[in-house]
Amino acid sequence: MNPRLDNRHALLTGAAGGIGLAVAEGFLGEGALCTLTDIGVQPSAEASALIARHPDRAQYLQADVTQAASIEAMMAGAHRRFGTVEVLFNNAAVFDLAPLLESSEASYERLFAVNVKGMFFVMQAVLKGMVDAGVRGSVINLASQAGRRGEALVSHYCATKAAVISYTQSAALAMAPHGIRVNGIAPGVVDTPMWANVDALFARYENLAIGEKKKAVGLAVPLGRMGEPSDIAGAAIFLASDEARYITAQTLNVDGGNVMS
Ligand SMILES: NC(=O)c1ccc[n+]([C@@H]2O[C@H](COP(=O)([O-])OP(=O)(O)OC[C@H]3O[C@@H](n4cnc5c(N)ncnc54)[C@H](O)[C@@H]3O)[C@@H](O)[C@H]2O)c1
Repeated sequence: MNPRLDNRHALLTGAAGGIGLAVAEGFLGEGALCTLTDIGVQPSAEASALIARHPDRAQYLQADVTQAASIEAMMAGAHRRFGTVEVLFNNAAVFDLAPLLESSEASYERLFAVNVKGMFFVMQAVLKGMVDAGVRGSVINLASQAGRRGEALVSHYCATKAAVISYTQSAALAMAPHGIRVNGIAPGVVDTPMWANVDALFARYENLAIGEKKKAVGLAVPLGRMGEPSDIAGAAIFLASDEARYITAQTLNVDGGNVMS
């Protein structure tokens, strides 16, 4: 079988661990060239190990998606090694929660800076490169089931993920004349490093033992378990590939049945 992303250059943000790293592994398995990026100056041990297995087809670049200069340097470094980015996995994000009446300005600023501003300007930089090079690429933005409806404790994060769904639709319409597709993925609950923080915050505000929330959300999924990071990779490969050539402006729920649409 032909690899579905043969020699296509994919850039992934937030790829040090969790979903981003699993999708990088999936993309490499389908023949892509991958630029993995994250905020750390050095790649995580897991990202280093993956790159070591694909030394000619993967690289790591440090990038803080909240900083315009950092995005510019990331784009230059990506282009220098593998040429125009043809697939973007726009994944970097942070989580926080608090009761609505206690939700702080600092938390708002941090979540919107990474999850909305960072997501938008990384996407814009990649789209400019695609348009300039005449590349009919594919962008995948990471939304969440949290972007589908509000949650009493999770107002800022839910709002950032609703914004991701909206920007995905606008960008898809703006880019359709260029043959560039823009879609989203909305995971449900996925067992990643992010969940240590999510679980601890729910424990504090819902008076639970550590680990209790994580167990409960897994049992509540119709398919009966939390997602693994690799559960997101198949949908990401599909949306990046030509198999999805007639799909744009959609946000696909990959959540074991939590959200129905
Ligand atoms: N895990 C879940 O249950 C879940 C559910 C729905 C949606 N999501 C979304 O999926 C995506 C991946 O989540 P994950 O669970 O793998 O999280 P994660 O915390 O494991 O990974 C997120 C990555 O983003 C990076 N990052 C944070 N701030 C950054 C910045 N300013 N610049 C560059 N990188 C930065 C982090 O270093 C981290 O490696 C996120 O967009 C998240 O909101 C996750």
